[in-house]
Amino acid sequence: MHKRLGNFDVFHETADLLDGDGALLVAGDPPNLMTIGWATLGRVWGRDIFQVFVRPSRYTYQLLENAGDFSVCFLSSEYTKELAICGTRTGYSSDKSSLCGFTMEKGLTHSASFVSESIFHYECRIIHKHKLDPSTIAPGIMQQYYPSGNFHMVYYGEVLGVFRH
Ligand SMILES: Cc1cc2nc3c(=O)[nH]c(=O)nc-3n(C[C@H](O)[C@H](O)[C@H](O)COP(=O)(O)O)c2cc1C
Repeated sequence: MHKRLGNFDVFHETADLLDGDGALLVAGDPPNLMTIGWATLGRVWGRDIFQVFVRPSRYTYQLLENAGDFSVCFLSSEYTKELAICGTRTGYSSDKSSLCGFTMEKGLTHSASFVSESIFHYECRIIHKHKLDPSTIAPGIMQQYYPSGNFHMVYYGEVLGVFRH
């Protein structure tokens, strides 16, 4: 049974886990899992928005370009190894949910799946996206994060629901 939370109820837990082993961005059918460490949760256009940052080289990028929604799943520290696998292996050549032994469930409000073993997860509908603009990125950040381009696409996900497991 999943308990619906307020969209900002686990804001601090979300930030802490992103800053640790990361979270799992789930998109596509069959679902692919990608570890993310960068995301923002806030208010835009009178809506609650979860933004994720995905480099075009990722398989997840191909999926999001053709998807209407995504989930972001947060796991406990007992899944450090699985988060590392989903952050190094690619869905181009492996089925990461099977590799990690995760149980996938269909979304409660949308079509993207989520990881059953999560502590909580967000379900989001994509309502906007834009590529980071190199001409306005501070020089230090350019050198550190974009020496060879591959600028992130930012996907704006309207939060449809946050669920504690
Ligand atoms: C802790 C951690 C955080 C990461 N955060 C991001 C991120 O926010 N955006 C991104 O594009 N890649 C991020 N990555 C890299 C992807 O997870 C990695 O390239 C993955 O293999 C891509 O999977 P895919 O090709 O199946 O989409 C992160 C990796 C780790 C280990």
